[in-house]
Amino acid sequence: MNKPKFKIRDGLISLFLLGCLAALAPLAAAWEREPNSVFAERRAKLEAAINAPVVLFGYTGHEEANPSYVFMQEENFYYLTGHNEEGAAMLLVPQSAAPKGWTGPREILYLPPRDLAEEKWNGPRMGPDDPGIKEKTGFADVEKFDKLRDALAALGKNFPEIYTELPGPHDEGYPHAANWSKWVKDAAPQATLRDVASDVGTLRAIKTPDELALIQKAIDPSIDAQLAAMKMMRSGLYEYQVAAKMVEIHAAAGCETEAYAPIVGSGINSTVLHYNKLDRQIDGGEVVLLDVAGQYSGYAADITRTIPVDGKFSPRQREIYEIVLGAQNAALAALKPGMTIGGQGDTSLQKIARDYIDSHGKDKEGHSLGKYYIHGLSHHVGLDVHDPSGPSRPLAPGMVITIEPGIYIPEENLGVRIEDDVLITPTGYKLLTARLPRSPDEIEKIMAGGKAEREK
Ligand code: GLY
Ligand code: MN
Ligand code: MN
Repeated sequence: MNKPKFKIRDGLISLFLLGCLAALAPLAAAWEREPNSVFAERRAKLEAAINAPVVLFGYTGHEEANPSYVFMQEENFYYLTGHNEEGAAMLLVPQSAAPKGWTGPREILYLPPRDLAEEKWNGPRMGPDDPGIKEKTGFADVEKFDKLRDALAALGKNFPEIYTELPGPHDEGYPHAANWSKWVKDAAPQATLRDVASDVGTLRAIKTPDELALIQKAIDPSIDAQLAAMKMMRSGLYEYQVAAKMVEIHAAAGCETEAYAPIVGSGINSTVLHYNKLDRQIDGGEVVLLDVAGQYSGYAADITRTIPVDGKFSPRQREIYEIVLGAQNAALAALKPGMTIGGQGDTSLQKIARDYIDSHGKDKEGHSLGKYYIHGLSHHVGLDVHDPSGPSRPLAPGMVITIEPGIYIPEENLGVRIEDDVLITPTGYKLLTARLPRSPDEIEKIMAGGKAEREK
């Protein structure tokens, strides 16, 4: 809706929607943010690792034109600042700047000036001149965004390198890093720009206790939603109806959004890895793959179960399911610090899962099943459902990853994935999704209970 086209009818609709929102308000949890000290510590660690100026930009709020878009902060920026509003930037200045004539503070948050007319539409924002803004944001200094260019120009004359986000392989349609790195280059032409992303990714991989608590708050309602889907499942439902129930459960528990587009794939759609159309009517005798999870205060869960529509796996469905479960258990049995997500060596969890799948069961032509396992076993989870960290980095305590083997056989309309979230501990791992059963017998029992409830 464009602002100038505002009409009385729209106003009435808005009033009605506001009323609905007000009625829902007690259900919604406030955004939970870690204390300022945690963000400050991350900035100090990053600056210690880099020892050069670092400049990072938050999203502007204009990244998407879709009217349903709700602002969500750029993840690296949020991780280092906890600032969840539009149009901000952050500058870190190394200790070595003082002898080079830098007299300013060593960390500055830059904010756009407040726009009171805009705030009538979108609510209050923090501004650089707000009383107590330094204490509120936890930064040594908070300045007007306009001042950043001059600061970069001064630093560029004294430092050969400035770190910022450079465009990566996934930046094509969403050119945040491309646009801002060009802006930095214009402001400080003498400096060479270096990418800060891998240094921030290294920090992000190890979760704080508060981050773990937020991930668990995304996981818990996601488990509840998986259980509800098992209980409601029957032929004749549309995939979107199952997804709607799951999303409702996430939202009612305070999840601000889904961690990714829900995947509810029935029959042949169970073999499409990121299937998200959800427009098919579910038929008897099929499996349904449910890869659906919520996001809580920025943090993702990522959970998949595959269930039989009628509440009983056919012998072939059960055979394939048990091979996937066996591969998951084999990877879990080996999971501990020092192992790696990918690679070909002895520490590779991916290799363990692939070898298991390739040495159990056959397809209809008598071939082994390895060729039907077509994705990686694992990725990190955090502010992004696919959190940064390379597949060859040894696992360490405090990391949260998925373990998600799968077998997808389109010729048999049969795809099975089982996906759980685990925390790496000093001696092994903790299954964060342990409350959600994985065994076929337990799944059938839950589904039988749901059916009995429905038929009461
Ligand atoms: N839900 C996306 C994934 O499992 O990676
Ligand atoms: Mn995943
Ligand atoms: Mn998933």
